[in-house]
Amino acid sequence: MSASRERTLRELLPNFEISGLERPIDLAKVFNREMVIVDFGSGMGLHALSLASSSPDVGVLAIDVHTVGLLAIAEIATEQELTNLRTHHGDGMDVFTDWLKPESIAEVHVLFPDPWPKARHHKRRLISQLFLDQVFALLKPGGRMVFVTDDESYFESASATIAAHKFRVIQSDWDIPMTTYHQRAVRLGHKISQLSAYKS
Ligand SMILES: C[S@@+](CC[C@H](N)C(=O)[O-])C[C@H]1O[C@@H](n2cnc3c(N)ncnc32)[C@H](O)[C@@H]1O
Repeated sequence: MSASRERTLRELLPNFEISGLERPIDLAKVFNREMVIVDFGSGMGLHALSLASSSPDVGVLAIDVHTVGLLAIAEIATEQELTNLRTHHGDGMDVFTDWLKPESIAEVHVLFPDPWPKARHHKRRLISQLFLDQVFALLKPGGRMVFVTDDESYFESASATIAAHKFRVIQSDWDIPMTTYHQRAVRLGHKISQLSAYKS
């Protein structure tokens, strides 16, 4: 890792990290904003950054296990003095298990989660009964989870799992933001599918 990245990791990223906050964390209070969106698996951070800078009234939590995108988020958010962006560097399942205040999140965005295309790896896919239970508990009434993928088999199985849950599912007409994996999917000519799952 370059010296500048190491400095960002040591000095900037901790300013955004939520793991040290008292639990259950009420992000609306942390951000001093009513509407909070979680970008689960934020990757290189394009979506979280564009959401936070284009919607100053919204608080955005970006979660990823990988470091590089979170460093970009910390650098750009510091440069732009964004006060509505926080991060967690680690497993989002921990955050969703018991860190956050129930019914406190307006939207969870799951954009191009790892597709795990091989059948023997399907059990590693993020969309599962457990994950949906956690999302459902965290969403405010009327809140939604958006799921986008370019893997047709994942979309099919995730749609069925979500439809069997307590969510109200509608085909989403959301103008999907261009994340790194979205750009890749377009380049490869993949079909992109999305849905919105509402807690109503
Ligand atoms: C295929 S990438 C998509 C990234 C981004 N959403 C995009 O559209 O470009 C999936 C991301 O999810 C992250 N991820 C997978 N499981 C995770 C978990 N349990 N907690 C946090 N991040 C996770 C991976 O590290 C990876 O960066």
